[in-house]
Amino acid sequence: MKNSLKEKIAEQLKRAKIEHEFIVLPEDLPSDSLSHVRYLGIAIKEAVPTILYRTEKGLIAAQRCMDSMIDEEKLKKLAGAKQLTFATKKDLEELGLESGYVPLMGLNIPYYTDRRVLELKKAYGGSGSKVFNLKISPHELVKINKAILGEFTKITTEASMKVDSKIQVYSGTRATGRLHLGNYLGAVKGYIELQQKYSCVYSVVDLHAITTPYDKDQLSQNTLNVVMDYLSAGLNTEKSFIEVQSLVPQHMELAYYLGTLYPVSRLEDLPTYKEKKAQFPKYINIGLLYYPVLMAADILLYKASLVPVGVDQEPHLEVTREIARNFNREYGETFPEPHRFATPGEYVPSLTGEGKMSKTKEGSYINLVDNKDTIKQKIARVVTDSGGPGELPKSGSVANLLKLVELFQGKETAEEYKKLYQVSGIKYQVIKSNLSEAIFKELMPIQEKRKKLEENPGEVKEMLFEHAKKLRKLAQETVDEVKEKMGFFK
Ligand code: TYM
Repeated sequence: MKNSLKEKIAEQLKRAKIEHEFIVLPEDLPSDSLSHVRYLGIAIKEAVPTILYRTEKGLIAAQRCMDSMIDEEKLKKLAGAKQLTFATKKDLEELGLESGYVPLMGLNIPYYTDRRVLELKKAYGGSGSKVFNLKISPHELVKINKAILGEFTKITTEASMKVDSKIQVYSGTRATGRLHLGNYLGAVKGYIELQQKYSCVYSVVDLHAITTPYDKDQLSQNTLNVVMDYLSAGLNTEKSFIEVQSLVPQHMELAYYLGTLYPVSRLEDLPTYKEKKAQFPKYINIGLLYYPVLMAADILLYKASLVPVGVDQEPHLEVTREIARNFNREYGETFPEPHRFATPGEYVPSLTGEGKMSKTKEGSYINLVDNKDTIKQKIARVVTDSGGPGELPKSGSVANLLKLVELFQGKETAEEYKKLYQVSGIKYQVIKSNLSEAIFKELMPIQEKRKKLEENPGEVKEMLFEHAKKLRKLAQETVDEVKEKMGFFK
């Protein structure tokens, strides 16, 4: 959305001498109203989302307190309309808007406001810019919009429950073994940061794990191992849902529906598909091709808008956004277009000097469960050069080693080493020893927690089944909505 709409609104409010406030929002805040409510620390009722509808007479805007649901029959009556459907993505584009960012005012269409909004001291809503919230007196708002007032909402406990259980963040890791430093820094650290602020689902994606060769006798244990690593690293089962993907079969059902909205040729072009094809030439299966569609279904199943993943997953997120866009265009506004949440470790390089740290590349990784000696041995094996003085290598194992120094010992230490390399030369033995210590220092508390968890795998399993039960319920809501919108028999 262009900032000019916010400026137009600011100008209009200034001219009318209406008291108001534009509150700055973080750029990574998801577009849904609940995220705004949480961030602003206001009551759900005080948030006033503006919903755009298409009627046979044109577009209209409806405003209500967020703790209530619109009764579309009543709204139709108030607006004198025979037909009422959600505005399409194209409608929003024509108004110069992005979905999820509809402003409280400033659109040249009729406004309808539910009378409960007037009970508020202040209303909070869209401002015409993603990074600002508009706070305004509801009486002034209604006046400036020349809004038609009416009663067209119902407050149900079901509505507020739905709001409370709304998921905003989704991410997952394949069940291919233990987590390594790449998974930890690129993804899990982001999971932990986000669980403080948002409703999150963190999954172990075992359905994705079977798209490349795997051992059926190990799959279940590998799944549990990733969960154990999640919990040891700091995921909190009170704050986040931990999902075993195959326990929520709705992922597969939604993936099938969404697959009909995406061309095969685009999937064949994706870098991860090409890499895996080259790596496992005898195992090129339909599941592998379908991998990004299933990933899109994972995220969209819960309508999550923020996805903490490493930079390698960006092409898959682009597919997810395209699929969401295609669905919304064909069947009406349903899914948000999710974005990546990046951490400082969004790309952890391989110890071998080539590419990223990866489970499938032997010698490239350090696991979260590696002990001090193993870490020391792995770091010792990193191939180094004479250590300068001279020009600093931009890629390869020395550059990767210094990147790890930056991630575990801080930018300053890494910069110091880089300068020394250029001016007087560095001694790798000391650097490697300090780096190994720093890595182990970060991993030690994780490993201690893991030992305790391992004493009671039954409890962890029970939690997973509990969480799956709740998640299946949430997931079914989306599947039902999608089936209805796609016109299936009911
Ligand atoms: P996977 O299992 O390969 O990796 C799990 C997470 O770890 C991140 N990661 C890295 N980050 C930085 N540097 C590295 N060297 C590194 N290696 C791995 C990945 O970016 C990822 O965040 N397709 C996904 C799994 C998935 C998923 C989803 C993720 C399935 N459905 C829905 C998010 C949302 C994958 O293969 O991750």
